[in-house]
Amino acid sequence: MKKRILSGMRPTGKLHLGHLVGALDNWVKLQQEYECYFMIADWHALMGEYEHTEGFSEAIVDNVIDWLSAGIDPEKSTLFIQSQVPQHLELNMIFSCFTPLGWLERCPTYKEQLRQIKTRDLHTYGFLGYPVLQAADILLYKADKVPVGEDQLPHLELTREIGRRFNSLYKKEVFPSPDAILTPVPKLLGLDGRKMSKSYNNTINLSDSEEMVRKKASSMFTDPKRIKLSDPGHPGECNVYSYYEVFVPGRKKEVYKWCTEAKLGCTDCKKRLAEGLLEKLKPFHAKREAFLKNKSKIEKILEEGRGKATIRAAATMKEVKAAMQI
Ligand code: TRP
Ligand code: SF4
Repeated sequence: MKKRILSGMRPTGKLHLGHLVGALDNWVKLQQEYECYFMIADWHALMGEYEHTEGFSEAIVDNVIDWLSAGIDPEKSTLFIQSQVPQHLELNMIFSCFTPLGWLERCPTYKEQLRQIKTRDLHTYGFLGYPVLQAADILLYKADKVPVGEDQLPHLELTREIGRRFNSLYKKEVFPSPDAILTPVPKLLGLDGRKMSKSYNNTINLSDSEEMVRKKASSMFTDPKRIKLSDPGHPGECNVYSYYEVFVPGRKKEVYKWCTEAKLGCTDCKKRLAEGLLEKLKPFHAKREAFLKNKSKIEKILEEGRGKATIRAAATMKEVKAAMQI
């Protein structure tokens, strides 16, 4: 029997290169080895973005197209939308009854978000319960493994605690204890050298046109110490070089030489990077084009995913209610 995986992503906008190397490439590999459930976490997006719900459904479909174009295979994995499987909210409700407030108030991600995010009011009942819903997402499918970034580890810890608390309250081992899969991901900064984020407008999006990729690549910040063409550069301090390392590793050595021997200017270096990126994105773009022309296929995939996810979710809820005698 294959072990089961669940992971999710909030549909908060266009996906970019960071999502590709930070999550999607990894998910695609995991499909071979595990029974995978990949979920668009739209309720979680709503918790943060409740003031701006316009364009929500477009973002969801757009993200699904990106996932499929990146290689998420609906023949191998179940791909679904959280809000289409009502059992997530039902289990969230049950978990809410016995999750101590202290666990949530102490959660480091919660405290950090409240401190950092000033543009939205996150002092809400829903946002405090963010990890409870995430626990419901994971435990509803009895996932063994959860591929996530390091920032999500506190949520996984809470998931285990909530599952344990359920099992001990109702004296039945309904829920397993899921572990994170932490794959080392290359640290990729935004075009301007700050953290890659849509709010900084410094991302190359997976859906960007060729022209846009070239334009964005040419705007990248380079080694600030290299002013003239004749100045040797420092690849280790150049963000452009780190993009070569991740996306065009075959040309790394060459670039290092150009740069440190002052043989090639930064403008040319970035032009060549853009071509390398486009080469890498070519199969992705081709698939994306095809999916955009065939929206009914997306609907069918999501409908099938909803069906498969619901069967699992309903089976778990039956066990949950039996254990609780409700
Ligand atoms: N909180 C996750 C994030 O922001 C998204 C998410 C929601 C998730 N439910 C999940 C991730 C369940 C893994 C498993 O990245
Ligand atoms: Fe960076 Fe390339 Fe310029 Fe060197 S030549 S500083 S690697 S952009």
